[in-house]
Amino acid sequence: MCGIIGYTGPLEAKTILLGGLSSLEYRGYDSAGIALFQSQTLTSHTVELIKTTGKVSLLKELCDSTPLLPSGCGIGHTRWATHGGVTTENSHPHQVGRVTLVHNGIIENYKTLAETWNFSKQLRSETDTEIAACLINQFYENDPIQAIRKALPYFEGSYAFCILFCDHPGEIYAVRKISPLVAAYTPSGSLAASDLTALLPYTKQYFVLPEQSIAKLTPYRITIFDENGDKIQPELLTVNWSMDAAMKNGFPHFMLKEIHEQPQALRNTILPRIVDELPNFDSDQIPDSAFVHVNKIQIVACGTAMYAGMVSKSLFESMLKIPVTVSIASEFRYEDPLIDENTLVIIISQSGETIDTLAALRLAKEKGSVTLSIVNVKGSTIARESDYVFYTHAGPEIAVASTKAYSVQLAALYLIACRMALACGKMTLEEGKHFLQELLCAIPAIDMVLTKKEEIRHAVSHLTSVDNAFFIGRGRDYAFSLEGALKLKEISYIHAEAYAAGELKHGTIALITDQVPVIAIATQEAVYTKMISNIREVKARGAFVILITKESASIEEGIADIHMTIPNLDDSFTVFPIAVILQLIAYYTSVKKGLNVDQPRNLAKSVTVE
Ligand code: G6P
Repeated sequence: MCGIIGYTGPLEAKTILLGGLSSLEYRGYDSAGIALFQSQTLTSHTVELIKTTGKVSLLKELCDSTPLLPSGCGIGHTRWATHGGVTTENSHPHQVGRVTLVHNGIIENYKTLAETWNFSKQLRSETDTEIAACLINQFYENDPIQAIRKALPYFEGSYAFCILFCDHPGEIYAVRKISPLVAAYTPSGSLAASDLTALLPYTKQYFVLPEQSIAKLTPYRITIFDENGDKIQPELLTVNWSMDAAMKNGFPHFMLKEIHEQPQALRNTILPRIVDELPNFDSDQIPDSAFVHVNKIQIVACGTAMYAGMVSKSLFESMLKIPVTVSIASEFRYEDPLIDENTLVIIISQSGETIDTLAALRLAKEKGSVTLSIVNVKGSTIARESDYVFYTHAGPEIAVASTKAYSVQLAALYLIACRMALACGKMTLEEGKHFLQELLCAIPAIDMVLTKKEEIRHAVSHLTSVDNAFFIGRGRDYAFSLEGALKLKEISYIHAEAYAAGELKHGTIALITDQVPVIAIATQEAVYTKMISNIREVKARGAFVILITKESASIEEGIADIHMTIPNLDDSFTVFPIAVILQLIAYYTSVKKGLNVDQPRNLAKSVTVE
């Protein structure tokens, strides 16, 4: 939540900061601001703030109409409000005395700090961040590193800061705890940002700022000091994402582009891990020894990633014959989970930075469990702290509503299930090969669904005028429905809920009245006839039924208002094309309602605060 950036170098900082904030905007888009050094003479410097509520495009307009001297150094912020409403005063950067800073995270003890240090009179905002600026300024005696070092022990919570000191022109100081911050020195100057997408136009090599170290960025180098003030060299990482991957490339929205990228993302994630027709994790350095002693699997994640985990539960259980529990990370982290050294804890996170998921990982490690994370962003905190990492290769996902990350997370879980079953002697080599072939068949099935997107676009007309929608399914279809309902509610603002179809009669069917949309998914053969009975029940009460089945399903006349099909895959793999249909239903509904598809209200892609 919130995106921060700092740039110092030979180029125009304003342009670089605004460009960077546009790519970070998915992290928060309530308000935005930048601060730029302005040097009137060689010895006279000020730091000018330009900030506004609203999107980065508004900030750009404001910058264009504000007279500014050329500047090669500044910081920027795009906000997702936590402490204090959406106002210009609460927008970052915050300036106190000689200190100007931007912040991603929460200083939880800000009230106590304000009282202890008697800051209330000098405050202009309601934010926790301004207190941090006050404290650093309080300690500032011309030595930025000393001031930061003295202030840090007082901060409880999480933070990534980029800080300017007005008598140190051309320099940016950066520090973080829990909240992400990556940085790079490039021929175009030095940059730090909440995530890599902001660095991509300038470099593919970057590093993750080690926690509690302080980075000093100048136009010519980045120097990092550890807690003792000693210089340290960060580990350089290389990303293979291209700039194209972070652009819309002719699609009207990132979400539609990312939906279309799913076949390739799946190929990129699956194919490099196939050796002799079987899943092989040698290049991931995940040995079979991580699996053989496991007698329980605990999956932990948030949002869409958690729903990917829900889909995999029955797959793991049927293949491995061991219990699998799927937990919401924000709950799990405050529980006393029944896990031990024989539990494999699978952590799923696209960003690798979700704060609750990270806390869940740390708890699992405390309990001695083996941790394996499925992560999309290389070098992210969750990836670095897990015992083993399975990187998905979805490329950058920019739309707030997750699509391709979900598919590749599923692919990762399917590959892990297969490798584990082989390692534990629960599957023969022939069965493993067959499983992989079936998994690969899901890719052309997605292509097939994508060719029918016009049909789906027409089918959603009924949804644009409703307040409520229901998704129903049984078995795995129910798990798919959960993600379908989440997609619809987050980008179309329709109240959408998923129910296990057999459970409808225990309450929810009271909400089924004339023309209420019910999206019914019926791809699981074992419960197909039961599912059809449930659909009849809602149809009999006037529901507008959108039914999704395999092509081979025989459908009786009048049971559905709209019938969509997917290719005939084995039941375990239908999730892949179904996911794409559900994503397109949500996408076209949002587009038809004229909503902001890529940046839905109140949401942010990377949830780095509790
Ligand atoms: C937010 C995003 C979702 C995502 C969830 C977990 O809610 O909007 O798309 O599924 O966080 O994020 P993660 O990065 O941990 O997968």
